[in-house]
Amino acid sequence: MSNYHIKHLEEYYQVYRKSVRNPEVFWEEVAEEHFLWRKRWNNVLQWDFSKPEIKWFEGAELNITENCIDRHLNTRGDKTAIIFEPNNPDEETQHISYRELHDRVCRFANVLKEKGIGKGDRVCIYLPMIPELAISVLACARIGAIHSVVFAGFSSTALATRINDSECKMVITSDGSYRGAKTIDLKSIVDEALEDCSSIESVLVAKRINSDIKMKEGRDYWLQPLLDEAYHDCDPEVMDAEDPLFILYTSGSTGKPKGMVHSSGGYMVYTAYTFKNVFQYREDDVYWCTADIGWITGHSYIVYGPLLNGATTLMFEGVPSYPDFGRFWEIVDKHQVNQFYTAPTAIRALAKEGMDHVEKYDLSSLKVLGTVGEPINEEAWHWYDDNIGKKKAPIVDTWWQTETGGIMISPIPFATPTKPTYATLPFIGIQPALMDENGEEIKGNQVDGRLCIKYPWPSMARTIWGDHQRYKDTYFSAFENMYFTGDGALRDEVGYYRITGRVDDVVIVSGHNLGTAPIEDAINEHPAVSESAIVGFPHDIKGNALYGYVILKETGESRNHDNLRKEINQLITEQIGPIAKLDKIQFTKGLPKTRSGKIMRRILRKIASKDTSNLGDTSTLLNPEVVQDIMDNVL
Ligand code: WT7
Repeated sequence: MSNYHIKHLEEYYQVYRKSVRNPEVFWEEVAEEHFLWRKRWNNVLQWDFSKPEIKWFEGAELNITENCIDRHLNTRGDKTAIIFEPNNPDEETQHISYRELHDRVCRFANVLKEKGIGKGDRVCIYLPMIPELAISVLACARIGAIHSVVFAGFSSTALATRINDSECKMVITSDGSYRGAKTIDLKSIVDEALEDCSSIESVLVAKRINSDIKMKEGRDYWLQPLLDEAYHDCDPEVMDAEDPLFILYTSGSTGKPKGMVHSSGGYMVYTAYTFKNVFQYREDDVYWCTADIGWITGHSYIVYGPLLNGATTLMFEGVPSYPDFGRFWEIVDKHQVNQFYTAPTAIRALAKEGMDHVEKYDLSSLKVLGTVGEPINEEAWHWYDDNIGKKKAPIVDTWWQTETGGIMISPIPFATPTKPTYATLPFIGIQPALMDENGEEIKGNQVDGRLCIKYPWPSMARTIWGDHQRYKDTYFSAFENMYFTGDGALRDEVGYYRITGRVDDVVIVSGHNLGTAPIEDAINEHPAVSESAIVGFPHDIKGNALYGYVILKETGESRNHDNLRKEINQLITEQIGPIAKLDKIQFTKGLPKTRSGKIMRRILRKIASKDTSNLGDTSTLLNPEVVQDIMDNVL
């Protein structure tokens, strides 16, 4: 189909106009021509943002794994589906063909069934970046079980919260994981979590580090012997287009993490279509996204999007700094990677290490470079463009969210002229709007406002697991008849978008979405702490880092502050994970509050960012005197 692969800017505008003039006709054509459906839809789209209710391809039946795997077996059976590059470069790379992937997914699916998992059951996957992670995701989808992948850097408390929220029946984990020079004992984190999880009936354990772990009789099973016994074929469960495919948790500005629910049909259509166009994938290309499958980027653009296109997708187990800072470029060279997709925080960290690590390797295979997760600063953009793409590989700065399921604003390489720090134009079918504080849409160019989306797209999350009201309140209540993203953005003179950052209490640290409230909750559990407030402040590598203002109880005041700082970070590590640790902790006597008792984070943010020239009028605060005191003691 002509509009599957967009090749120049004129064509982009043509297809874009068509896609927004009549979205249903447009998406119907894409859905018809590129996928295997067991039954056709009755309606392409039914929607009502006031409820909110969104249904794409209602009445259709499919199985996404049939589209990711079976469909390719005739033409691409021997093609490599997944390249597995281990943490340690001395360990052998694995190439998993589509045929082998089919076999391994089917066997895994049969193991799940044998352990009592069926359609609609929730399965928690807590695994490092090893092939079993992608395979278990697909095995769940094969039998219609809903996967809930939890990033294996989260703590046992965070894991337990997520397992309990969606009442998972099973956990899939490993005996441990490699991370650079370290090993992590994943199984004991799971054991600890499961002390508080009554819904779990069984645990499957993949062997990775050969450590000596405890197995609980009747609950824990080694995976491999079960796979060895399993039957090699497994008919795909036929799913309704609107049946949930997975749950993925993301942090909100308040409360517990939100289990975003993604559907089967719409998610399939949109991730496949965006992958093809945003990365301009061609049949023999090798594509590598460095994210972890524990995040949405990995779900949509390591597993589903690439496999739906019959692509070769690389999975890397390790970290960019091991055995040295050349590891990414060594992998690009070794596998002649054509599309490379990473986060600004990684680019900044690697840029800092200098060119020696880059120059050793041949990067000439690279055709498209991508970034995602946070705004990319101009310096990092140019470093990436000059030194990695050698000015020949366009950079796609892709803006999207866990909630959106797929890329929403991005250049199309070789079609959209790029502009540093700009995500540029809305993707096909996406209708952004900038809104002012009074709820009015800001039309025209050279404006900024709150970024909303006016019209449904196929891969949008359908609800929050177990809390539809919260879904409505968070995304559909700020502006009437609009999906509110939580981000601010500006639109330049030609209509390009630049994302300026969160306008709520979420801070993006190293591309990870962190709500401040759960971190404050963790800190406040410390017996010496009476109150706290967390804000983000600019950081050279991480984009943002976390700054904590902490009020101590009288009993805590005499304690050694450095020890307290360590204990607070320890608590955060236990409750959430090391990614949420604070860079700076300032002990203070008070926090600036409005008369209604709301903490004025805007002021705290400015102080932490050392940007106090324009604090605004502080005289109306309940306690204006604390502002000076906080400024005097800023770290
Ligand atoms: C938030 C969503 C989508 C995959 C990774 C993050 C920020 C994401 C960009 C970008 C500026 C970006 C936004 C967004 N963000 N991509 N290209 N430029 N900001 O998913 O954890 O759900 O976080 O990440 O603030 O709202 P997530």
